Amino acid sequence: MQDNKEALYIKEMEDVCFHEEPWSIDAVKSALQREDIFYKILYDEAETPMGYFIAAASFEEAELYRIAVIPKKRGIGYGKKLMNCFLKSCPQKTERIFLEVKESNTAAVRLYESFGFKLTGRRKKYYGIEDALNYMLILDDKNG
Ligand SMILES: CC(C)(COP(=O)(O)OP(=O)(O)OC[C@H]1O[C@@H](n2cnc3c(N)ncnc32)[C@H](O)[C@@H]1OP(=O)(O)O)[C@@H](O)C(=O)NCCC(=O)NCCS
Repeated sequence: MQDNKEALYIKEMEDVCFHEEPWSIDAVKSALQREDIFYKILYDEAETPMGYFIAAASFEEAELYRIAVIPKKRGIGYGKKLMNCFLKSCPQKTERIFLEVKESNTAAVRLYESFGFKLTGRRKKYYGIEDALNYMLILDDKNG
């Protein structure tokens, strides 16, 4: 089953990209089956998975849950490519996008800010000793 193969690919990438708190295979599988979830896996020329995003949409809002590029492919634009793909994949009616990120995750924070996400709040000690930062992007006119 295609979904199952994709779930396994995502789980492998979860383990190397989020080694402190990877989603379990069951969490990945159940996420991929949810009606509100949309996601994309990026492959290289050899069909090896290099990165992915997982997001959810409901009414006018979307939330980016995961975006990751495998360590050896980082720093060469695939994160940006995935972000663009995520933004294009949001349903037409999406007006606001939310996400949450660890304060120390400089690469992700810069990536989000470069796409216009604005800091809206902070959850103190949400990740153990670390704060979570809340970001939002308002989509004013997706079709230009
Ligand atoms: C965040 C992540 C997806 C970025 O992927 P990437 O392929 O390395 O990103 P890109 O090469 O496309 O870079 C895009 C932008 O991100 C920022 N960035 C990427 N790596 C960075 C780093 N090491 N330090 C600071 N900024 C960085 C920069 O703004 C960069 O734009 P620039 O090159 O024009 O300066 C990647 O670091 C990752 O998978 N991290 C682990 C998973 C994670 O923490 N995901 C986010 C929380 S869900």
